[in-house]
Order: sequence, then structure tokens, then C-alpha cells
Amino acid sequence: MEAKYGVSRWPDEKEVFKKMERLVNEPLHHIKPEAMARYMKHFDEKCKGSKAMIEEAKKVIPGGVQHNLAFNYPFPLVVEKAEGAYLYDIDGNRYVDYLQAGGPTLLGSNYAPVNQKVWEVVKESGPVTGLFHPYEMKLAEKIHECMPWVEMYRCLASGTEADMVAIRIARTYTGKQNIVKVGGAYHGWSDQLVYSLHIPYTQTFEAHGIPKEATQNTKEFFPGDVEGLRKVLEENEKNGGTAAVIIEPFGPESGTRPIAMDFAAKARELCDEFGALLIFDEVVTAFRVGPGGAQGFFNVRPDLTVFGKIVAGGYPMAGGVGGSEEIMSCVAAGVKAGKKKAYVGGTLTANPLSCAAGYFAIDEIIKQDAARKAGENGDKLCDGIQALIDKYDLPFVTWNTGSIVHFEVSGVMYLSVTDPDIFKKIPERQHYIEEFGAALTANGVITLAGSRIYTSMADNDDTIAETLAAFEEVFSNVEK
Ligand SMILES: Cc1ncc(COP(=O)(O)O)c(C=O)c1O
Repeated sequence: MEAKYGVSRWPDEKEVFKKMERLVNEPLHHIKPEAMARYMKHFDEKCKGSKAMIEEAKKVIPGGVQHNLAFNYPFPLVVEKAEGAYLYDIDGNRYVDYLQAGGPTLLGSNYAPVNQKVWEVVKESGPVTGLFHPYEMKLAEKIHECMPWVEMYRCLASGTEADMVAIRIARTYTGKQNIVKVGGAYHGWSDQLVYSLHIPYTQTFEAHGIPKEATQNTKEFFPGDVEGLRKVLEENEKNGGTAAVIIEPFGPESGTRPIAMDFAAKARELCDEFGALLIFDEVVTAFRVGPGGAQGFFNVRPDLTVFGKIVAGGYPMAGGVGGSEEIMSCVAAGVKAGKKKAYVGGTLTANPLSCAAGYFAIDEIIKQDAARKAGENGDKLCDGIQALIDKYDLPFVTWNTGSIVHFEVSGVMYLSVTDPDIFKKIPERQHYIEEFGAALTANGVITLAGSRIYTSMADNDDTIAETLAAFEEVFSNVEK
């Protein structure tokens, strides 16, 4: 299979860092109060159904919302219909959708050709039997075809589970305990990985309800810092060595801190030198950057690959881990469970619904050249946002790697733990992003928490023009 990639350019990480440093050290450029009042009026007048339902939901659901990415300000929207590039709320408002369910719907939302095929499978088998189904094998073969280093694949329920299992396999295989992650990176919410989330060196800031011991073998290094990684690996050598280094190959938080293009290759070399496994968390990048994922794009072999999101085509139970036959043989399965096996389970994992959905979605992504089309849409959008930043002379920063588009208006994740005012600045800058996201939503555009855009194959010149008009309306109302 000829892998086609949707990433036509790579951000200059030093340039981005310089601009971000400027942004984070400047006072916030607030949206003018009269414009903000207008946006809030939109929610009050046009989103009455959502408002009422969320008020009701608060009585039975903590905070009235279940998903971290459901945009919460001024209240979450209740979405009843999704189609291609658009979402529709229960009040009938239409939005261009760049949340894309947090990443899985590269083909566009509610993609009929995949739905049809999935329903045909489920009509026969129902969603689950607990026994083997042909699409489990078809999915594993399809992933191997896309990413030849994934010789074996094990289905799991989510990216969080898959990250957890990858680490368990690495510890079983190497007999070592320490794991190394990138400061600020998110690899799901398992005890051992809720460590230095969002901002490097924040360690257990967000680890409420998690015993300190759970992260005592988790170490971090600064994003993209090869020498920093070496130091941590050397330090671990005095303490039993390193089981695994886990990275998002495009940089933490889908590349919110971009890294040098050769970083993944350098991490590979260091892992080989120190006898650690290299785990690529490709929950976002797999299939989105191209059928070959980040590993194919860089031509760098990970020992283990973590999958989520697209791997079930937007259907539930989106998670899995893969690698060489030798390493993957550490996963307990069937009668082979035993002493040197990493214990893994899950009643609903590998069900016909998720496996058929993953298989058909990946197949369709390849046939439709979806990563390239979504990547071109990302390039156009990013170029358009940059032109508007220049036109309105704002300190905001935008860059993209194909269909993953970043636009930073407050730089909250670039705050430093050495800043004595960090605890005052985090909520201020976080709230600013929320306001910005709300302003765009009031103009008909939904983004991922006001600071990221995932484009899809369903976007086109019209949706991009509509989006840029919304950005322009908001930018023209930002105080100098
Ligand atoms: C890089 C990365 N790893 C892991 C996860 C966790 O995946 P899930 O939400 O399926 O548990 C996410 C979720 O956004 C992610 O972006």
C-alpha cells in the first residue's frame, strides 16, 4: 500500500516558541465588552433548549456535562445531529465542526458509507457476543498493512487503556519499572500518567485522588529536549533503568508544543542505547496524518504503538496497542495467561461493532485519500487565520501539521512553573480561551476548547470561508 500523508509542512519549533513566549508574557487582549455581551446574548436567545436541558442535567450529572471536550462556556451545547462538516444543536443552530469528536471523524461526522457497512455487520452479530468475530482479524490485518511495525494488535476500550497497557507490556518485557514521559503531555487519565499534564514540571498538580506512589516511577523531560531525555535516562540507570519512553511523535497535546522533525529518531536512538522500549502514542496521529501514522511519516520504528480515536471510526471502544510479535506476546490472552504476561481484560473490547467500524473507516480513509484532503483543508485554514492575525496585528499564534491546526490566543500551556503568579494566570488565561471559544461558537464555529482545530475530509472552500469570516468577526472585536 502506498501511504499518502496529509502533512505538507513542519512548523519551525523555535519560531513558534519565540512567538508563544511573547504571547504568554503580554497582558491578555480581551474581547471588547460590548462584543462579548453580544455573544452571550446569542447563547441566551438562540440556545434556550440547550440551556434548559443542561440545567436539568445538572441535577443528575455532575456539572451537567460528561465530556472534557464538550465546550462548557457559557454552558454546553446539546447536539442532536451531525453531518459531514456540520453539527446542529437542539435549537436548530448550525455550526462548522472542528472539534471532530476530539479527533476520530476524519471522514467527516456521521459518514454514511461506513455507517451502512457497520450496520450490516451488526444486523447479523449484534454489537457483542464475547467470542471471536472475523472483523477482529480484519482490523488487525488492516492496521498491519498500514503500519508494518505493528505485527500484532490487541483491541482495548480507549486511548487511556491502551496507554496503560502499553506501559504494562513494557514493564513486563523489560523487567524494569521506570517510565519517562514528556512534560505537559496527555496520555489518558490512568493513575501513573496523570503527571505533569498540560504544563511541564507541574508533576502531581492535577493528581487529585491518586496516591503519590502511583507516579513514583513516572519521570519527565521538557518537550523536544534530547539532552534532557538523556539525563533522565542516565538518572534512571542508577535506579533500575527505564522500561519505556512514551511520546506523542508530533509533540505533546497533538503538537501544542511543536518539536523538531528529527526528535522521534533521536528518541529511538536513546531508547536503544539505554535498553528502553519506545512507545508512540498515536491516538491522534494514527491515520489522521496519513494511513502510515507518525511512524510512517518519520520512518521511525516504535516498539509499541498506542491507538485510539480513529481506530474505531468514531464508534465506541476506540483503543488498542500494537507492536512486534515478540513484544506483543507479553499480553495475556486465552489459555496463555501466566507468570510473564501483562494482565489485560475488558468485557466489551474487540466487539464486532468497534472492529467493523475501525476496519471500514480505515479502509475508506485510504480509498478517499482522506488524510491528504483534511491536511489541505488544515493548510488553507491556518494560512487564512495567519492572514487575519497579520491584518488585525494581534499577538496570536497559529501553525499546523496537516489537519491538526493550532491557534493560541492566551498561551496557557506555555506558562512556566517558575512563574510565581502561575496559579493566578492559569485560570485567567484558561477563561480567556473559553471566552474566545464562545465567541467563535456564537459565530457558528465549534473548535476544540477554543485553541485547536481538527479539519476533516468534509471541509471545503465554503466551510473554510465561513470559518474565516467568523474568525475575522471575533478578531475585529479584540482590544489592542
Ligand atoms: C495523545 C492522547 N493519548 C491518549 C488519549 C486518551 O484517549 P481516550 O480519550 O480514548 O481515553 C488522548 C485523548 O485525547 C490523546 O490525545
